[in-house]
Amino acid sequence: MERHTTAEAARGWQQSSILFGCDYNPEQWDRSVWQSDVALMTEAGVGLVAINIFGWASIEPQQGQFDFDSLDAIIALLHESGIRINLGTGTASTPPWLSTKHPEILPVAADGTTRFPGGRQAHCPSSPIFRERALALVERVAERYGSHPAVALWHVSNEIGCHNALCYCDVSAEAFRRWLETRYENIDALNAAWGTTFWSQRYGDWAEILPPRLTLSSINPGQKLDFSRFSSDELLDYYRSEADVVRAASHIPVTTNFMVTAHIRNMDYWQWASDVDVVANDHYLDNRLALPQSELSFAADLTRGLAGGDPWILMESSTSAVSWQPHNIAKQPGELVLNSLTQVARGADGICFFQWRASRQGAEKFHSALLPHAGTDSKIWRDTLELGRVLRSIAEVAETRVEADVAMIFSWQSWWAAEGDSQPSSAVRYLEQVHAAYEALRRNGVTVDMVPPGADLSGYALVLVPCLYLLTDAEAGVISNYTAGGGTAVITFFSGLVDNDDRLRVDPTGRIRPGAFVDLLGAWTEEFFPLRPDQRVILDSGATGKIWTELVRTVTAVPLDSFRDGPVAGRPAVTSNSFGAGRAIYIATDLAVDDYAALLGTVLADAGLQPNSLPSGVELVVRSNESYRYTFVINHSADEVTIAAADGIELTTGQAVVGAVTVPGGSARVVRQGAPDAASKHDNHERAAQ
Ligand code: GLA
Repeated sequence: MERHTTAEAARGWQQSSILFGCDYNPEQWDRSVWQSDVALMTEAGVGLVAINIFGWASIEPQQGQFDFDSLDAIIALLHESGIRINLGTGTASTPPWLSTKHPEILPVAADGTTRFPGGRQAHCPSSPIFRERALALVERVAERYGSHPAVALWHVSNEIGCHNALCYCDVSAEAFRRWLETRYENIDALNAAWGTTFWSQRYGDWAEILPPRLTLSSINPGQKLDFSRFSSDELLDYYRSEADVVRAASHIPVTTNFMVTAHIRNMDYWQWASDVDVVANDHYLDNRLALPQSELSFAADLTRGLAGGDPWILMESSTSAVSWQPHNIAKQPGELVLNSLTQVARGADGICFFQWRASRQGAEKFHSALLPHAGTDSKIWRDTLELGRVLRSIAEVAETRVEADVAMIFSWQSWWAAEGDSQPSSAVRYLEQVHAAYEALRRNGVTVDMVPPGADLSGYALVLVPCLYLLTDAEAGVISNYTAGGGTAVITFFSGLVDNDDRLRVDPTGRIRPGAFVDLLGAWTEEFFPLRPDQRVILDSGATGKIWTELVRTVTAVPLDSFRDGPVAGRPAVTSNSFGAGRAIYIATDLAVDDYAALLGTVLADAGLQPNSLPSGVELVVRSNESYRYTFVINHSADEVTIAAADGIELTTGQAVVGAVTVPGGSARVVRQGAPDAASKHDNHERAAQ
């Protein structure tokens, strides 16, 4: 993937090891604490420390009055200790003097109410005043530290758009109009795209257009979708403005921390990825989900997808409990290492945490850290030291690449559109459908590359397309061409329904069947029959479906399974269609995960992929380079497992592996094996489990 800084400079953060790092907020501590902090960082092997993320109020206590004494001192201290710095631009949250002087920078919610200071990120992303003051700060910071030998990476702002992605104020409204003018050029094109003939919504002038503020009835879906696009673009534009200022003063690589997680959806990171010199993600185990470990693996794979397969950094994570979930579940001993190795297995070359030392005050004082309130005689500190040791033991894995035979198409824009108002069923949640598809593959021991719509699919034995409601004709064509060329595509319900304007693909004459995939699937849908919340349907195979059924009409497809009961009893539930040299499978319901996994197991085998028969709760992922293969066996279960493995060395214990590797419950092992042969990567997958 092309990045803005030279490839050599961009790799400067890496240094052929798996980085161990953290955020550090020394401004929260007396200087006497800093010295011991840095000594303990060295003991743990922490090599990259992010500072000045929330520095604005400290380094610019009043407008235009800068005080860099503390920052100079901490940078010097870290540098003397050989610790490299991930330097925040300091703009993550505005100081109170700015919003007091300029309350017009405050963000406004869809209902017109203001969001006030007292938390963080209380600014409108389109505010010119915010931008002017923030960039003035960035300029000072970049000029002062832009060539400092300890600075390895620039950390622009923090989690851009985490809280304030969607602002509905008048300044945002004006920026939205400008964005629309650029996109559509004339108002008739906008009217056509938004379908404003419906409900008398025709616009005669750009000035009539508003952000999708709170309405009495369902809002225009096109207006809402474009506002999501605008908001992501606006934040990206802001990131670019900071990155430009930094790059004018420094050749050090620049990034910002993405939030590929289950609860943030407002940034289309496919659009952002090429603007960062290294992709960095913040991820916390989400115990609100049914399968937190599965989501962790999914997010790691999606982050690798954003990085185009290149190494990436886990920029923030937690050593144990967070403080922002309703029930903040602490990690068991060893879980920190297990979660971290899951991220490394899936391509991370850096594992960093929020934060170094747990805070005594403020909104996150109950959030875990590398150094907990309990000090060094604690489970967390022992795990911190163990993680440092383990990461050093697997240093040679750095810069290797993850092997994957299967691709899954993921789209933020389709997510936004699919979950608009007035859809057939509010139970169809895009991310839940993606997670279900991912888990069904994971249970088959399959490693997945996440790709955007339109990406090159050649080389994959199977492509999964879950619930891809919106895509362009060209993007649909890529999937059809891939299949025609011999691939296997698995497409699930609510896919291919609308074009880029959220316009249904229907033909007024009724002669052309609706949907982007009619020819590919050899089937089309006459009518949707969503299920009631607790309703279940049984298929002929005995599989269970929920949420969704539909009346499928086959043309050339053959049914593989049919609904035995429910609103469309007797009609196809799973179909298969030969298409060119390949095959397209359609799944017309939300299968129970065991049934989903079983179906995909058969399809994978038919596609020439021998699914691994791994014990439940075990993940196997391979990273490799031209010399070695590194097989990660990650055992999330409580029981010890023994997995057949080619001979090699287990790196975390240094023990020889002969034919099999034993992995204790809740642990991970990394086996280095000799050079891969020239065989296809499909065979590699099979070999890994042997
Ligand atoms: C993110 C933020 C941090 C902190 C943590 C808490 O990583 O960037 O500032 O709020 O979440 O989990």
